[in-house]
Order: sequence, then structure tokens, then C-alpha cells
Amino acid sequence: MLATPETTVPRLGSYYLQTYGCQMNQYDSELLAWMLEGMGLAASDDAERADVAVFNTCCIRDNADQKVYGRMGDFKRYKAQHPRQVLAVVGCLAQKDGEDFLNRFPQVDLVLGTHNVRELPEMVLKVQSGEGRFVRAEKQGDTFDLLARPTRRFSAMVTISMGCDQWCTFCIVPYVRGRLKSKPVLQVVSEVRRLAREGHREVLLLGQNVNDYGRDLEPRSDFADLIDALRGAPGLDRLRFTSPHPAYFTQRVIEAMAANPAMCEHVHLPLQAGDDQVLKRMKRGYTGAEFLDLAARMRGAIPGLALSTDIIVGFPGETEEQFQRTLDLVRQARFDSAFMFAYSPRPGTPGALFKDQIPEDERLDRLYRLIELQNSISMELNAIRLGRVAEVLVEGPSKKDASRYTGRTRCGRLVHFEAEGDLTGLMARVRLEQHFTWGFVGELQEHETRPGDWSRAAA
Ligand code: SAH
Ligand code: F3S
Repeated sequence: MLATPETTVPRLGSYYLQTYGCQMNQYDSELLAWMLEGMGLAASDDAERADVAVFNTCCIRDNADQKVYGRMGDFKRYKAQHPRQVLAVVGCLAQKDGEDFLNRFPQVDLVLGTHNVRELPEMVLKVQSGEGRFVRAEKQGDTFDLLARPTRRFSAMVTISMGCDQWCTFCIVPYVRGRLKSKPVLQVVSEVRRLAREGHREVLLLGQNVNDYGRDLEPRSDFADLIDALRGAPGLDRLRFTSPHPAYFTQRVIEAMAANPAMCEHVHLPLQAGDDQVLKRMKRGYTGAEFLDLAARMRGAIPGLALSTDIIVGFPGETEEQFQRTLDLVRQARFDSAFMFAYSPRPGTPGALFKDQIPEDERLDRLYRLIELQNSISMELNAIRLGRVAEVLVEGPSKKDASRYTGRTRCGRLVHFEAEGDLTGLMARVRLEQHFTWGFVGELQEHETRPGDWSRAAA
């Protein structure tokens, strides 16, 4: 029986929410979960029986698209069994495909782009009352008035800006996330302070290009001002951000970081390629030498700084020699870790139109060679840290073994260790005993008994 519009009071039921992609999407999913709960729905892992199934999607590479398309098949069956189920696809892939998504998958009821996320409750009710299927994919809009609703009690994400104006030639983000839009400084500061006061001792600031922050604000501001404004927030032990763009990383930002004790000694600094010609065709705005100079200045100002990066191999026209320059730069920069990708042409981006695309087997071959090199560097750098005692913020017990805990150092490295009792959200000192490419297994030395009952130790 279909509900009539007059009877569309939220009925109790369940929702299934699956998130793909970056931290920005995880943040949006926290907002989505909060909205769904506001409708009286309870979270569920049961995709088949959930009253509302929501996919928060990514389209950064073709395999991200395919993952979502692949899952849609299951819902053809589920909806045959449960015709009242509402299937909603939101976020970047929804924005990219729009109407096509509805046409291709008759089982999908709702397509909500990146700027229409907040309409989820209203649109779900419309579908439930039989008003039809809908696509909402506007080109602008923000969710800045929605406050962060972190799912973890000790750690939180805060979006400081949406969109990106850089238009790197490989990247689809500006097309699906729109132009740069910064959240006002006072709003970010009050949100971070509130979260820290409520026990979120770690805050991750999010933006597609965080250090282009504030250029669009009135009065104009910048990322260094924001880091300064967050200095001394009570209860804030760890401040992180992702991702900055190397060409926008000013000396003032480096100084503001060094002057803020909460600022973690870890920066994710996407390199993308080591060859100047390739960097130029990617429209990155820096050379390999400039990148290395920036990394050296950062390391000089922030002792113990860990650097991670993103690298794309097999960008159109990249020769073997140019790829070798990426390997050389990786050897010189000595990143602690890296996300490494084979180039994936994205519809509508200049890169997809470049004539000299590299065959897939060659792209993958370069990727494997790069991964091998980076893994050996990660291992070497982790080996240097063996025997040290690191400050770890405990994230929780491991899923497989409840006596094994997982946490992160200020440098962002994962540490596993054995412990009794619930240490989630507490700081621990852990001796690093065994190293891997992803981090360490260590031995617990001591830990807080409640948040803040010791002074901060160096990691
Ligand atoms: N500035 C964003 C970038 C998001 S995309 C951020 O906040 O992280 C994350 C990474 O995906 C990029 O740094 C890049 O290395 C990779 N990437 C983006 N487009 C890609 C493409 N078309 N093919 C392969 N990798 C890509
Ligand atoms: Fe993408 Fe480049 Fe912006 S990687 S998100 S266009 S800085």
C-alpha cells in the first residue's frame, strides 16, 4: 500500500548507508546518517531489508564508478522482494551521471548530487508517498549550516571548504564538487572549539585544496590565519588537515603550523608526478625542484615531520624517462607513505582528451614498480623508529581480536598493541617493536586513565 501525501509522517524503520571515496564523503555521510536518524530510521547492515538504502558515491577513478554500478544489480533483486524500499544514490557519481543514473538503473529512486545532499529526508518522503523518482543535481550550494556530527567520540572531521578552483587536467573534482567555497573563519573556530569541548581531542580539517582556504571570504582570509585562530583551543590535542596543494603552501602556513602545539607532525602533500613536463601538462603549478624545496623547508621548521603523498603514473604522454623522474623524486623526497594510482581518464576532463594515452598494461607496470620502491622506503623509515616509544591515540579494539588495540601516532602511523580494558579515545605510550609498510606492532608502556590526565609526550 502506498502512503498518501497526507500520511507521510516519518515512520520508524531502518536505513543502510554505504560510503565510498575520500574523507569528505565520510564527513557527508555523518551528515546523511544524522538526517536519516532524524527521520526515525535506525542504522542497519542489512542492505536487503533496509527501508532506505543510501549510497554515498565517488567518481575519482573509473573503478570507483564501477563499484557502485556493480552494487546496483543486487538492488534489482532486493526491490523485487521489498518494493517499498527506497534506493538513493548521492554524492560525486550522482552529480556526474545525473539523469543517466536513473535511466540506466530502474531500481534507483533518487539521485542527489553533491550540492543537494541536505534534501535527502524531503526527497525520501516524496518517493515513499509515491510521487515518483527524482534527480537533484544543482551546480552550487553548501551544507555549512549543518554542524559536524562525528560518529567517533574522540575524533572529528570538519569541512573548512568545499569545491576546488585548481582544475588539474586529470581531476574530476572541480566538475562534481563545484567552485571553491570557504566556511567563515569564526564558524570553523566555533565548530572546532565545540567539538574539542565535547571530547573530540583530534580534529581533521577537510577541503579539496585546504590551503586555498579563505580566498573567497569577505574579508579575505587564508589557511595560515585559520591555523593561528585555532591555536590554544581547549581540549584540542591533535589538529590535522587534508589535502593541501604544494603550490599554495606558503611560508606563513609552515610558520603557523610550527607555532601551534596541537598541529600534528604529518602533512599529506600530493606530488602527482616528478617530471616537470608532466607536472605542467597536469597543470599543477610547481616543478619537482620546487616541491623538494618546500618539503625541505617544512621538515626544517617542524622536527620529526612525516610526509605522505599521492602519485599518478601513466598520465597521457608520460614517457619511460619521465616516469623514471618520478621514481627519482620519490627517492629524494623519502615519503613515509603514499597513495599511488594508475591514471584513469575521467569524462569531461582535459586529460581524457589528450591523444597520447598510455596502454593499461604499461600504466600498471609503472604502478607496480613505483609501489615496490615506495614500500621499501616506508620500511626503511619505519625501521628507524623501532624501539622508540610513541604517543598513540587509541582508536579502538581490532575487529578480529578484542584484546588487540589500534591507534595512530601524531605522524599518522598505525600501531597495533595488546591491552586489557577499554582504551578507546585515550592516549597510550607504546614501544614500537615490529615494523611493516603500514605501521607497527608495539608494546603498551602506559596509558591515560581518562582523557588528559597526563601531559602530552613527544611521539
Ligand atoms: N585535493 C584532493 C584530491 C582528491 S583526489 C584531496 O583532497 O585529496 C585524490 C587523489 O586521487 C589525487 O591526489 C590524485 O593522486 C588521484 N587522482 C585524481 N584524479 C585521478 C585520475 N583521473 N586518475 C588517477 N588518479 C587520480
Ligand atoms: Fe583535483 Fe587538483 Fe583540485 S587534484 S581536487 S583539481 S587541486
